Amino acid sequence: MSEAVSLEMKEIAQRLEAANLAYHRDDAPEIDDAEYDALKARLLELEAQHPDLKDADTPTEKVGAPLAAGFGKITHKVPMLSLGNAFEEDDVSRFIAQIRAVSRDAMLTAEPKIDGLSLALRYESGALVSAATRGDGAVGEDVTANARTITDIPQRLTGAPEVLEVRGEVFMSHDDFEALNARAAKNGTKSFANPRNAAAGSMRQLDASITAERKLSFFAYAWGDMSEPLAATQSESIARLAELGFRVNPLMRRTQPVAEAGKSLVTQLTDYHEEVALARAELGYDIDGIVYKVDDIATQIALGFRSTTPRWAVAHKFAAERAWTRLEAIEIQVGRTGVLSPVARLTPITVGGVVVSNATLHNLDYIAGRDSAGNPIRGGNDLRVGDRVEIYRAGDVIPKVGSVDLDARPGDAAPFVFPSICPECASPTVRDGSSLRCTGGLACPAQGKERLKHLVSREAFDIDGFGDTMVDTFWGDDALPVRQPVDIFTLPARDAELARNEAPGENRALATRSGWGPSSANKLFSGIEAARSVPLDRMIFGLGIRHIGSTTASLVARTFLDWESFFAAATAVAEGSVSEAARFRAVDGIGDAVIGALRETFMPGPEREAIEAMAAQLDIQSLEAPSTKDSTVAGLTVVFTGTLTQMTRSEAKKQAESLGAKVAGSVSKNTDILIAGPGAGSKADKAAALGVKVIDEAAWLEMIA
Ligand code: IVH
Repeated sequence: MSEAVSLEMKEIAQRLEAANLAYHRDDAPEIDDAEYDALKARLLELEAQHPDLKDADTPTEKVGAPLAAGFGKITHKVPMLSLGNAFEEDDVSRFIAQIRAVSRDAMLTAEPKIDGLSLALRYESGALVSAATRGDGAVGEDVTANARTITDIPQRLTGAPEVLEVRGEVFMSHDDFEALNARAAKNGTKSFANPRNAAAGSMRQLDASITAERKLSFFAYAWGDMSEPLAATQSESIARLAELGFRVNPLMRRTQPVAEAGKSLVTQLTDYHEEVALARAELGYDIDGIVYKVDDIATQIALGFRSTTPRWAVAHKFAAERAWTRLEAIEIQVGRTGVLSPVARLTPITVGGVVVSNATLHNLDYIAGRDSAGNPIRGGNDLRVGDRVEIYRAGDVIPKVGSVDLDARPGDAAPFVFPSICPECASPTVRDGSSLRCTGGLACPAQGKERLKHLVSREAFDIDGFGDTMVDTFWGDDALPVRQPVDIFTLPARDAELARNEAPGENRALATRSGWGPSSANKLFSGIEAARSVPLDRMIFGLGIRHIGSTTASLVARTFLDWESFFAAATAVAEGSVSEAARFRAVDGIGDAVIGALRETFMPGPEREAIEAMAAQLDIQSLEAPSTKDSTVAGLTVVFTGTLTQMTRSEAKKQAESLGAKVAGSVSKNTDILIAGPGAGSKADKAAALGVKVIDEAAWLEMIA
């Protein structure tokens, strides 16, 4: 046991040491921050559990890394330390509890943690005499010449203590980073992976004139050696630094006493954390968390330090929104209309505080590294099983694959080949735009199930008690299978048949099955009975014909009014009737795609049979023909334009149609009346030019009253 633990600790220590060198000395990180933090947290945990196994030279007690050659050395008079991390609210609570043990009413400051590199600036008699990087915390590199090129760093101070060492962060703004990389691209030189690397790389130039060309920024947030204190509190000291001419972060806040704020200290801090996290993208520079510090400096001193981190401050990190993980498999899901959707199965990873193990891969082109227009995405690199991929969560919750690390691609990784047959039913697949589609139709179990789910959904049949779970349950039921739409409506009769035959075991009628009972069975059956009577528009939508959504379905229903007319017209379209197709095309939003889908659905074959079988079980309600007897506008073609005040445009349209008027979208010589509200534009001009009658909303309402 302890041997295994010792081995794990050694391995983690080695990885951390390697990562430290890559990050601090070479400005070329090998693992991302989240991975580094996770490794470090694990080693700290093991060291706490097994203090006997802790290495005297452990990386958990070191900051930074040994120095790169080429720079002079500067020994820090006051060591440059690191900050402990907090990830969860619990960590923040523990931090606060430790402070409270020393000072009951301690106030804290909160400020962004800048993702750059720390710098110590030494001023003597007001003059900048040296600038040093953190190095290993005890000895840093002398980068004085480079620091002098940074405009945020004053060369002279007036009114400062005789000796003053100001500490802060050198960073590169997003704008300056992009400009730098754009120049690099133009000159054919190496670009930087992120602003932090760019800042560090620029600071470590042996030739200061190169640093001067790169625009670097500096925020002051701390101090080291001093001949006299700046102030009695953190916040006043920072204000003093601002007065002396340093740039300080404008987002720094101080907590308030609990009674004044109306919320606990922890809540005040975590609220601020959340607020800044939301504003993060707009800051224009990278931050990776919030730093909380005890405001009162006497309390800071009383709290003191652990080996490398203060007890009076902590870095509350942001959950990483991007993370690298392995693409373990690409699975294909078949949807209602037969589209094959590839899904990435990932080695689980935390992204933005949520564990992610799947991501959508959209379609064929996306995996191949191009968008639907054929333009390269991810630099044109394809995705292969075994790849190391970067996962990110954009504004929405659905995780996406950002980039792929070609250097980490296994030698045997092969381009992903889309199946030429459907993985669910083995029917051939056909290309449809950027996707592939299964041609199995209802014979494909995946399509069959998804279509049933669509049929019973809220906007379609909306069957009480028969939702997605029931579709899954009855699909595999041996005695009462539901695999076709009609099966839903024959379910009560088939169940009654089972009851009469007293079928054995799990093949019994629902009322006698475990988990069911008479009342739940009856409830289900009455839901199904009620759904038999269905309005024509819901019926048409429920068929799940491609490209016919609920809006188009109700327009179609209003055109054909009853099931028989609709079915006859759709059948005629499938048989090639141009005139019947024209009736469909007259419906707003119907074009070639819908006509093609109608043909596929209503040509002789299983789809059409399934529809007929279901229809025979139903009482499909016709829509009322518009009552035009007393209507003054029956048969007129009208157009609405501008703003309506009494009702919405779609309500007005419905009402006009119910009175037998035809509502068109544009003005032509066939238009009888244009109803123009305020803001009517070109349509009113056109109507005037064509001599079409133009009235306002009030006149229209009067006309139809
Ligand atoms: S205070 C005793 N404040 O984070 C340590 N550090 O992980 C005092 N950092 O070495 C540091 N923004 O390079 C402090 N607002 C901020 C910071 C900040 C970035 C860096 C700094 C430090 C590292 C600790």
